[in-house]
Amino acid sequence: MAAPIHPPLPPKEIQQRHYFKFLRHVTLKLLLFLLVLAVGLSLIAMSKSRFLGADGGLGFIPGLIEPISLNLWIRPPWSLIHDMTDEELFWRASLAPQRKNYPFKRIPRIAFMFLTKGPLPLYPLWEKFFEGHELFYSIYIHSMPSYQAVFPRSSPFYGRQIPSQVVEWGKMSVCDAERRLLANALLDFSNEWFLLLSETCIPLYNFSRIHSYLVRSRHSFISAFDDPGEYGRGRYNHRMAPEVNLSQWRKGSQWFQINRAAAVAIVKDETFYPKFRDFCLPHCYVDEHYFPTMLTIEIADQLANRSLTWVDWSRGGPHPATFGEWDISESFLRGILEGQSCLYNGQRSTLCHLFARKFSPSALPPLLEFSPVVLGFG
Ligand SMILES: *[C@@H]1O[C@H](CO)[C@@H](O)[C@H](O)[C@H]1NC(C)=O
Ligand SMILES: *[C@@H]1O[C@H](CO)[C@@H](O)[C@H](O)[C@H]1NC(C)=O
Ligand SMILES: *[C@@H]1O[C@H](CO)[C@@H](O)[C@H](O)[C@H]1NC(C)=O
Repeated sequence: MAAPIHPPLPPKEIQQRHYFKFLRHVTLKLLLFLLVLAVGLSLIAMSKSRFLGADGGLGFIPGLIEPISLNLWIRPPWSLIHDMTDEELFWRASLAPQRKNYPFKRIPRIAFMFLTKGPLPLYPLWEKFFEGHELFYSIYIHSMPSYQAVFPRSSPFYGRQIPSQVVEWGKMSVCDAERRLLANALLDFSNEWFLLLSETCIPLYNFSRIHSYLVRSRHSFISAFDDPGEYGRGRYNHRMAPEVNLSQWRKGSQWFQINRAAAVAIVKDETFYPKFRDFCLPHCYVDEHYFPTMLTIEIADQLANRSLTWVDWSRGGPHPATFGEWDISESFLRGILEGQSCLYNGQRSTLCHLFARKFSPSALPPLLEFSPVVLGFG
């Protein structure tokens, strides 16, 4: 049997073969290296573009990840329950658009913010007031943290309690609670007006009348006046200067009706807050001075310097009158609506108060009876 005969290669050819083998080896390695490099670079690019929120990268793979649309940024929170601290909440609520025009259809809403201890005894009257206007309002309730409201699912007050903290009247915790209400309401971009109400407040007109009065106003409504007496300037502390000067010191009741710009000014404030917290202590009642003074310094020309909430101080004493069952009559209610005079958008007006306080729970039945005739709803 003949073994295959390989004629021995000449030494030159052996050398050439080794050389080609080496070349093939190196080229393969180089290609592999380039492949790994390319894959690596594109992975980095993808993760970068995802990190930057660009629509490129993974966003291009259809069906895998939805592209981010405007809805993500304008959708109101689906629940009022959150675990943000005040600091986190106020920071988030202070973010404000810098462009005047909204690139989407926005229905300006009124945020009705109830600062209460516990229940809202007059809620049946308010429910009649709100009926049929669901697109134009939102409700927020700040009560003592231990209080759990029980409203039926069908009520506009259902599920509208915000995370709350203990409030001591006349102390900074009142202003904290009001800022908390404002901040929660600011999270919904559709809210344009912010009304602070108590459990003793009632509306004096129907919803459409109140809505049009507010949305046409060029000013925010907060009582702010310069009282030279001991209960006004007498409460000023010189350690508040230079942020707050005596001539800028204002007094007013806490029940305001303000627009979005004023609400943001209050929530974002870090300049005046520490001054009032540290130097407006009883007998300086901070809830009568902080917002009126702060807003006067920041946005004086946007303030009406009056509140839309009617209250009766005529009986004297440190607290305004509270009205019960036997006070309420048709002529009593007409008396509140008539004989007023004030400035509205720079013009004389006889429509000056949209809300009134204080009404006790016993006033509910006669209020429900007279509201269709006198107040125009129910
Ligand atoms: C609201 O009240 C005004 C008068 O104050 C009246 O003209 C208007 O018809 C009322 N609107 C509704 C929906 O009842
Ligand atoms: C308060 O008054 C001082 C001295 O008159 C002045 O320098 C300062 O700017 C004033 N502060 C404000 C906030 O206007
Ligand atoms: C409210 O008072 C401030 C000064 O405190 C003033 O600048 C502003 O013009 C007043 N607003 C109106 C509507 O008169």
